Formats: sequence, C-alpha cells, structure tokens
Amino acid sequence: MSRHATGSAPGKIILLGEHSVVFGEPAIAAAIDRRLEVSLRVGGEPAMPSDSRIERAVVLAATDLGVDANDLSVEITSDIPPACGLGSSAAFSLALVRALASLADRTLSAEDVRRRASRVEDVFHGTASGVDVAASAEGGVVWFERADPPRLERLRPGKPLELVVALSGEVRSTAGPVSRLRARHAARPDLYGRFFRLAGDLVRSGREALTSGDLEAFGQLMDAAQGLLNAFGVSTPTLERMIGIARGAGALGAKLSGAGGGGAIIALAPAGGGTIVRDLREAGFEAFPTRIDRDRREDEDDRSNRRSA
Ligand code: PMV
Repeated sequence: MSRHATGSAPGKIILLGEHSVVFGEPAIAAAIDRRLEVSLRVGGEPAMPSDSRIERAVVLAATDLGVDANDLSVEITSDIPPACGLGSSAAFSLALVRALASLADRTLSAEDVRRRASRVEDVFHGTASGVDVAASAEGGVVWFERADPPRLERLRPGKPLELVVALSGEVRSTAGPVSRLRARHAARPDLYGRFFRLAGDLVRSGREALTSGDLEAFGQLMDAAQGLLNAFGVSTPTLERMIGIARGAGALGAKLSGAGGGGAIIALAPAGGGTIVRDLREAGFEAFPTRIDRDRREDEDDRSNRRSA
C-alpha cells in the first residue's frame, strides 16, 4: 500500500534588517501569500527532483525523522519565484519537514519544526541567520533576533500593509553578498559594527512605526535601510533603478529584500495603491502586489500539512 503526505509553507519578505541580522541585530520579516508544497509518496516508484541540493536536503531531513529517503517519491509545486530572496528554500525546508513528520506520524512542536528546517536550509545557504525559516514558519509579521535559541516574536501591524514585490531578473545567490559583507566587516570591524548598530536602530524604530500604524514613517525607514544596504555593497544598479521607479510611482518607501546582488525589491504602496505595479511592469520587470494582514498566522492554516494512506 502506498502512503502519501504533503506539507506546505509560504514565501517571505524581509521588511527591515537583512544582513545586519547575521551580526546579531534584529530584523522584521513577513510571510507572503505565495506557497510551496512538498508532496511525498512511499510505496510507488521512487523519484526525486534533479537538483543535488534538494536530494541532500531530503536525505538529511528524512534521516533526521527516521524515514528511508530511498523509498521516497518527492514532488514540489510552488508559486514562489525561486532564487530571488523570497524564501523559496526556507519554504521548501519547512514544507519538507512538515510532510516527513506527517508521513512518520510524528507530532513536532513548532520550535522543533523550525530547528529541523533551519538545519535543512543550511544545505542551500551555508549558515543562515534563520530569519527566513522563522517568518515562513510563523506566518504574519515577525521580529527575529539571531541567538540560541532565536528570539522570535509575532508583531501585529497597526494597519495592513499593501506591498509590491518586483523581481530584477538578475542571477544571484544568498551566499555571495553575505560572504562579501562578512569580508568587509572583518577588514573594518569598528566601522561595520557601527553600520550594523545603525541598521538595528532602524529596525527598532520600524517596530514602533509598524505596530502603531504609522506607515509613512515605516516607508521612510525602509528608504533609510536601503541607503545602508547600498553602502554595504549589496544593491545593484538594476535594483536601484527599480526602487527609483517605485518611489516615483508613489511608494511610501522601497528597498531590496533578502540578500541583494539581484533578486527582489519591495515597495510600500500608498492608500489607493499608486501606479507601482504598472510602472514596474512597463519598465519590463515582473511585479505583483502582496498584502500583509494584521492577524494572519501560519499555524491557523490547515493547508500546512496533510496525510493520507
Ligand atoms: O536568502 P535571502 O536572500 O532571503 O537572504 C536572507 C537574509 C540575509 O540576512 C541576507 C541572510 C541571513 O542568513 O539572514
């Protein structure tokens, strides 16, 4: 008899604090309404996506949960654009752990799921701060600080956030910008230490603006954060151009989201929406709106894992 289980998880954006989060400062991140689903089957013809990192991730996560990876057929469906900082590998890692747990008939605590998924995500990114997995696992908006265990808090925005996500189309990786910034910090620890504390201050101010519903202030903090990310050397001329288009179309603020070096920007839309999506599309970029609701939680989502025999 074949057994089947699925797990799913959403993509994410980083509203404030990427990169400085690696050095111990806080970040604010949010899940988006795009998801990835992992579907597992035991007892049929074993099959695996032809990607060596996915294979390694499956073997690691399956072994961790006492499932024989050689018997598994693994299928992935996703509407999260891959490799552009929208958390597709974190969503994959979580969805995989959730599917395997349900296949193995194990009930894992939320913290255990996050811990296992973070280990799986390291297969893709080396040592990640864990902010992507945290945002995807929790849903909604989270405050995250790297620590052991990580400091994770759910934030409730004073108003829903209407955002636009746009993709630069540039090939990028998380590891490249992260390791280049690490080298800058190693060469000038005092200077970059001050930069990171300043980035952390923007996140702390962002928390107040967000929870009190002062979206104009939050947008200005996004702009300030982008100035620092540019100074860190992780922006690109294309990202800067996209950010300029979004601001010209009425965005309250705009910045890159994720590691940079290409990937995605996010723009906070004004009341009424502005013309951000249209203007970015007219300039040739893929762009889509996403709404961050005030109360959405991932654990209330009954799609996050299922099992059938
Ligand atoms: O994988 P990305 O592009 O979402 O980047 C993750 C955020 C970083 O702060 C750049 C890296 C990390 O591990 O936190």
